[in-house]
Amino acid sequence: MALAVLALVAALLLGAPENAAALGRGLRQECKKNGDRCSLYAEGDCCSGMMCTMPLECSSRGSRSECFPECRKQTLSKLNKVDYPSSSGKTPALEAGQRSRPAVVVMQEWWGVNEAIKATALHIAEQGYRVLIPDLYRGRVALQVMEAIGLASDLNWTRGIDDVVHAVTYLRKTGAKRVAIIGFCQGGAMAFCGAQFAGVNAALPFYGIPNNISGCNPLRIPANVPIQAHFGTNDNSFPVSRIQPLALSMQQAGVNIKLNLYEGLPHAFFNALTPEGRRLLAGNNPNYKQPNETLVTQSFSRMTNFLRLHIRDNK
Ligand SMILES: *[C@@H]1O[C@H](CO)[C@@H](O)[C@H](O)[C@H]1NC(C)=O
Ligand SMILES: *[C@@H]1O[C@H](CO)[C@@H](O)[C@H](O)[C@H]1NC(C)=O
Ligand SMILES: *[C@@H]1O[C@H](CO)[C@@H](O)[C@H](O)[C@H]1NC(C)=O
Repeated sequence: MALAVLALVAALLLGAPENAAALGRGLRQECKKNGDRCSLYAEGDCCSGMMCTMPLECSSRGSRSECFPECRKQTLSKLNKVDYPSSSGKTPALEAGQRSRPAVVVMQEWWGVNEAIKATALHIAEQGYRVLIPDLYRGRVALQVMEAIGLASDLNWTRGIDDVVHAVTYLRKTGAKRVAIIGFCQGGAMAFCGAQFAGVNAALPFYGIPNNISGCNPLRIPANVPIQAHFGTNDNSFPVSRIQPLALSMQQAGVNIKLNLYEGLPHAFFNALTPEGRRLLAGNNPNYKQPNETLVTQSFSRMTNFLRLHIRDNK
């Protein structure tokens, strides 16, 4: 066992870039030399002792620019607990980043507010945003799929949407001039709802679509809310056969949506960006393979470009 790990590490150090699947979970990877591009799947220190985190934003501007992962020092490491006022009294949430920064509401997957969504939110905050994660499950977090199914089916969407609407109100009242909503899986569906009801400046749904008991209708999203949607073509939960016709009908209804499809990526692919997320993606599956890093990175780059365009460059 130890020998096998050593062999893997040796293979990595000697450079076997095509053998991406060999990067097992939790395996440390060293940079071959200072200044190397960080692999998002690496968990070790690299590049002159800095932590590998998310891609930096690119210096060029505009919707056509893309950026690539680099090393940077992670400065934010902590989310603060807050309660903000909502129709149900108070909604618990986690928050990070300066209050005057443009803000991003980050919506949980069906698991609840777990370590993976917290890590994702911190990486978004690292790009220069204030982030807020409303806790729709009020402290409950699923560890197993069956628990997640239970919590998700218990979710009262009326209250959930109210939590989102008041999250945006809270952020604006406490200093944020512009607010976006981003969400994943169940939170992706909630991002569509937020775009419809919460008066956000932009929405970024990842692989989630509201069902017809949610009370949301993506066709009714106001035309002045730009939407950037991200879906993988290997998503069995929210397949292309559902999102593509929906995006088309939305466009025909005057909604400003751009659908980004990622060839071969599975459901929940954005989780591949963080160690916690990768643990979640792998589950107990011994045959787990990391999703295509180039494409996962591209989705992150598009996200940061879109946020900058709509909640930072404008004012
Ligand atoms: C869902 O939440 C709304 C708003 O808080 C509440 O009025 C309604 O009774 C709830 N529905 C159920 C089934 O609990
Ligand atoms: C809502 O869902 C139900 C049950 O899945 C389905 O029968 C109905 O046609 C759906 N309604 C709309 C408007 O899509
Ligand atoms: C990952 O996606 C990129 C862009 O589509 C593609 O060029 C590359 O071959 C893919 N890599 C693997 C290992 O499939």
